[in-house]
Amino acid sequence: MKVVINGVTVGYSDQGNGTPLVFIHAFPLSKTMWQPQVDALKDSYRVITIDLGGHGESDIVLWNDTLDDYAKDVIYLLDHLGIAQAVFVGLSMGGYTLFSIYRHYAGRVHAMVLADTRAQADSEEGKAGRRSMAQVAFSDGAPAIADLMLPKLLAPSTIEHHSEIVEQVRQMILQTTTAGIVVDLVAMAARPDSTDLLSKITCPTLVIVGEDDVATPISESHYMAERIAGSTLVTIPEAGHLSNFEQPAAFNHALQNFLATHRL
Ligand code: MLT
Repeated sequence: MKVVINGVTVGYSDQGNGTPLVFIHAFPLSKTMWQPQVDALKDSYRVITIDLGGHGESDIVLWNDTLDDYAKDVIYLLDHLGIAQAVFVGLSMGGYTLFSIYRHYAGRVHAMVLADTRAQADSEEGKAGRRSMAQVAFSDGAPAIADLMLPKLLAPSTIEHHSEIVEQVRQMILQTTTAGIVVDLVAMAARPDSTDLLSKITCPTLVIVGEDDVATPISESHYMAERIAGSTLVTIPEAGHLSNFEQPAAFNHALQNFLATHRL
């Protein structure tokens, strides 16, 4: 599904009825990564997924290059759909975007799920890594980024035993525009530190992490869960960074338990 908002085409899906759930994807993927959650939840909830700029079906505005811009894109879509409040689920870069949403639009957040993400800003070394990856994207395009990212996104056991998952994730990356990849890297490198925000979060919060996540290791999730009052941490066995896609049954189980007590 597509809609033009402020002159820009935005890809999204909106299925089911009930409490709105809004899913925000990781780098350098698209709303397709949430298909296992859409399938499991659309009969009980209103499930919305969005393509951030330059991903999936969404156009890109090159100068919308901060996570606050990404947050606005999500909120503008919800305004268009007439949704005042929702439960938000963000994985990795989607989690960084969720911190921006909470910082600027806390009133829209009924509850949130921070999956495989971290509160800290990039270190200087991390920023240098973003710059060199942006250069690779510019010279060699999405296929080179897929080669670099797949071992960071998926657990070694997924890579070894689930070639179909590897292939689906590769295809998602190949559909992302080079501009989208570069703008994500610029936005992530410039993102503010959100550690101070953690103690200010008052909505119900679930933290989820894949046991074998190398991109945002379990320690990052413990750090967030210890500082967000009343939050719960769930670890997903045999999953890497893309825990929702590698182990959908365990991820959906954790999500459904949380949602059961936090409907709107
Ligand atoms: C993601 O999955 O969104 C990225 O790995 C996040 C990051 O590079 O910091």
